[in-house]
Amino acid sequence: MESVQSRTVDYQQLRSAITWDVARRELGVVEGGSLNIADLCIDRHVMAGRGDKVALVHENHEGELRRFTYRDLMLLTNGWAAFLRGLGIRNLDRVCLFLDRVPELYIGFMGILKLGAVVEPLFSAFGEDALHSRMEDSAATAIITERKHLGKVRRVRERVPSLKTIIVIDQEADGRPLREGEVAYSMMANQLVTFPAFRAFPETPSVLHYTSGTTGKPKGAMHVHGSVFAQYLTSKVVLDLKDDDVYWCTADPGWVTGTSYGIIGPWAMGATEVVLDAGFSSDRWYQTIEKHRVTVWYTAPTAIRMLMKDGLDPVARHDHSSLRHMCSVGEPLNPEAVRWGREAFGLDFHDTFWQTETGAIMITNLPGMPVKPGSMGRPFPALEAAVVDPRSGEPITSPGRVGLIAIRPPWPSMMRTYWNNSATYYGKFLNGWYICGDQASLDRDGYFWFCGRDDDVINTGGHLVGPFEIESALLEHEAVAESAAIGKPDPVNMEVVKVFVALRPGFTPSADLELSIMNHVRKRLSPLAMPQEIAFVDKVPKTRSGKILRRVLRAQELGQPIGDISTMDDN
Ligand code: PRX
Repeated sequence: MESVQSRTVDYQQLRSAITWDVARRELGVVEGGSLNIADLCIDRHVMAGRGDKVALVHENHEGELRRFTYRDLMLLTNGWAAFLRGLGIRNLDRVCLFLDRVPELYIGFMGILKLGAVVEPLFSAFGEDALHSRMEDSAATAIITERKHLGKVRRVRERVPSLKTIIVIDQEADGRPLREGEVAYSMMANQLVTFPAFRAFPETPSVLHYTSGTTGKPKGAMHVHGSVFAQYLTSKVVLDLKDDDVYWCTADPGWVTGTSYGIIGPWAMGATEVVLDAGFSSDRWYQTIEKHRVTVWYTAPTAIRMLMKDGLDPVARHDHSSLRHMCSVGEPLNPEAVRWGREAFGLDFHDTFWQTETGAIMITNLPGMPVKPGSMGRPFPALEAAVVDPRSGEPITSPGRVGLIAIRPPWPSMMRTYWNNSATYYGKFLNGWYICGDQASLDRDGYFWFCGRDDDVINTGGHLVGPFEIESALLEHEAVAESAAIGKPDPVNMEVVKVFVALRPGFTPSADLELSIMNHVRKRLSPLAMPQEIAFVDKVPKTRSGKILRRVLRAQELGQPIGDISTMDDN
């Protein structure tokens, strides 16, 4: 198959040819007409005679394979939608998915959309606090989970009054009795020939993805059915997906990459998608590419750096000749990673920049466009993006000057609000731009160069973790009086969580206490949020109004100038 590097594209020409309207037309949606993501991604292919095409190849930890065609997906999502309706779930109700990467996660996602309810994907490694804050905020009606995570759900249940039903997908295999308000569902036993998809409109809510900010609890970015226009077009133009591709997205659908490009995008394109539900090992990853003849691969810098650590020998032991295009997202893709990719696979990793809030790729190295290692590339051709002055919101045109990454709204996959938090949503705009909260500069060719985040959010292995969430969890530990969490640079994960802890009277620092604090955060939130380092301090720097000055700690950590501390409380 032709590699994308053997082509060249004219960026300006693409800007005039690529519009969101192209997506709408190609998906067969009339202007102002109804649509449903599940219908466009599944039933549409079956109606067009492509029902026998494999949509999902699922490989579990033991290496067992299951294949689902587009027709299978249609029957199974019909089953899901009918079952959920039978439980009394209605359109716009929030239904959580709290599952490992089992087929039910991918297919259930589409079943919920087919019914017209809102999908709320939750990372299955979330602990009780992380689970509770999201379910409570969204007032979720139902949650779909599996036996191994049921204990956690049961423990938060009483604190989520809106929650009516817990759906357990593997009850048959387990057999232990369920409790009141819990029902078993066997996806494979419930295939249904027809279920009329809910007639949504482009502005009808679809997916609610929680993301972490500096302050407050995680915020729910609300997406709509019309987002599919952006996910379709970016999958086509950036991921270069075609219907004969075998595509592998390594992201978990608990995060936005795993839904926008791990479910919606590839199926909108009618591609075959591979899912590997197994932990990371370089050999297993290369085997996956070899075994399934993966052609297009979407992964993250931390994973690439982990592959780099294992060297080129494991690459050489496997056949990766099927690969023709590789993309990356979530963190800065360092130039060494691009160079290593060239050496290992003879291809460039194409960086893509976007966010939970943007729903789809915003800035990217397009196939056929020269890749400058270390640069994120240029705006997706249907978009206007800029680097703007943080005060005025005016675009900065002089090359190399740092400002904020800004996108001109609207675009189809833009979040429509933060659930229950429209004030924060409106705070994201300046001078008519949506402000991403990241710093970058432009070069003479209009390429974007990422500089860093404009807030205190920690990016560990491509996953955002909110310092406030960590600090709140720490306060629940009996030994902790106050704390501050920052991201500490890390050669593989970009950042790891470091916390500064002031102890309550009667507690003294010790290795056991460190371990107990680390485990506490891992259990309450998730393994990602677990501090890798704890520093015991007498007090945490704060402003006079009590705001934690994380930037002071970060500057100290990096040996950088501390900056203006005139508001610091020095008592
Ligand atoms: O800081 C940027 C970083 O990840 C943030 C978005 O995180 P999230 O909403 O979890 O979505 C991640 C996947 C879409 C951004 O604000 N980020 C994302 N992509 C890049 C990046 N930083 C540098 N380079 C990227 N390509």
